Amino acid sequence: MPGISDLHHRFHGDAPGLREMYRTMHAQCPVLYDQEAGCWLVLRCGDVGSLLTDPGTFAASRSGASPKSPPGSVAGIVGRQFLFLDGEPHLAVQEVLRKPLGRIASQLGPFLRETISALLESGRRDGRMDLVGGFAAPLSRLLIARVLGIPTHDAGLLERLERWSDAFADVTSGHLQTDLGGVLALYEYFQRLTQEKRRQPTDDLLSVYVAACDQGLRDPEEVVSDAMMLFAAGRVTLRKLIPAVLWHLLYQDPENLAALREELRVRPALLTTLTEEGLRWGTPTTRVARWTTHEVLLSGQVIPAGEKVFALLEAANVDEHCFPAATRFEPARRLNRHYTFGAGPHICTGAPIARRAAQAAFAALLALPDLALESTEVPPLYANDNIGGIRTCMVVL
Ligand code: HEM
Repeated sequence: MPGISDLHHRFHGDAPGLREMYRTMHAQCPVLYDQEAGCWLVLRCGDVGSLLTDPGTFAASRSGASPKSPPGSVAGIVGRQFLFLDGEPHLAVQEVLRKPLGRIASQLGPFLRETISALLESGRRDGRMDLVGGFAAPLSRLLIARVLGIPTHDAGLLERLERWSDAFADVTSGHLQTDLGGVLALYEYFQRLTQEKRRQPTDDLLSVYVAACDQGLRDPEEVVSDAMMLFAAGRVTLRKLIPAVLWHLLYQDPENLAALREELRVRPALLTTLTEEGLRWGTPTTRVARWTTHEVLLSGQVIPAGEKVFALLEAANVDEHCFPAATRFEPARRLNRHYTFGAGPHICTGAPIARRAAQAAFAALLALPDLALESTEVPPLYANDNIGGIRTCMVVL
């Protein structure tokens, strides 16, 4: 049975083929050892749920980059993120983030409307638009800049931050062929920014976080790593989600799209279930890693202690046991308890923001009556097979 890298090569740009493969694997090898990657793969929704909610057995710590690596080195920057913490220290960080993220999410309406309409207006002027470079990427970087309190007037700086942050997200997610200089440049930027937030706090997320951490929760080096993580986590995921769903509707499911446009016009509440289905379908973070703290039995397989285990969120999201007719995109799907935001103690605290932004983007794009693909060629993908996704996809408006 294929490992992670075989799956990536064999189904490059073929999402329907990959979904079918996952279904075969659910039946034949729901837990398997990937020789090439040197880690275990867990595919069933039930097993992924158990794994993510049992941090005593499947720990997030041991990232491969030790937190003891020198501050300012790539390994030191990556290893210090709270993503790789367990237990009380981790829960305390999540608690600090949850409230401001919820507050900011509830205030995003006008910003999302204005930003989306400006991006679409520019596309309309040209008659065509890159769904990634002209819409999903600028929307996601402006959004997360706004959330964190990064000035948005310097478009060139924001684009550089995005490039550097892509490199940081690559190393964090285990894709190592990347621009390490970009990681260091981003580190220096966030070092300056966190110091500025310390001196002159406002009501953005980073000011709130820095103030809470300075009470003894996290040291300044850890705060910089966490800020870099937040900038990447809120950006790459949304940038991947929007084109993935639109490509599917425009290319693979045009009949569903026509009905959906009509239905949304008369029943706007459909936007909520449509977005959840889009999140299930797109699963921007395809897998997350954990390490076994002791030997464990999962779907008949014994996994020894000290092993790296990937929970394949993407595979769990097409498991028939949790999602009837799992390989169909059903905009009105009920009880859609997908694993797109993870589960358990590390569940995504940015989910309220992601949901609002995705809803606003889908509503605006699907309201465009003439939106169509410029070409039906499979679009090029980012090299990172976990969080990469479509790199460019031209549409006419
Ligand atoms: C569609 C958009 C998004 C997706 C698919 C997504 C996905 C995920 C996933 C799968 C996790 C769990 C990681 C793990 O279990 O190891 C996670 C955690 C997290 N995400 Fe998101 N995310 C999205 C948007 C955001 C946004 C907008 C933010 C911030 C503004 C954010 C911040 C976080 C944070 C703080 C965590 C917790 C990390 C931890 O406790 O270890 N995410 N996200």
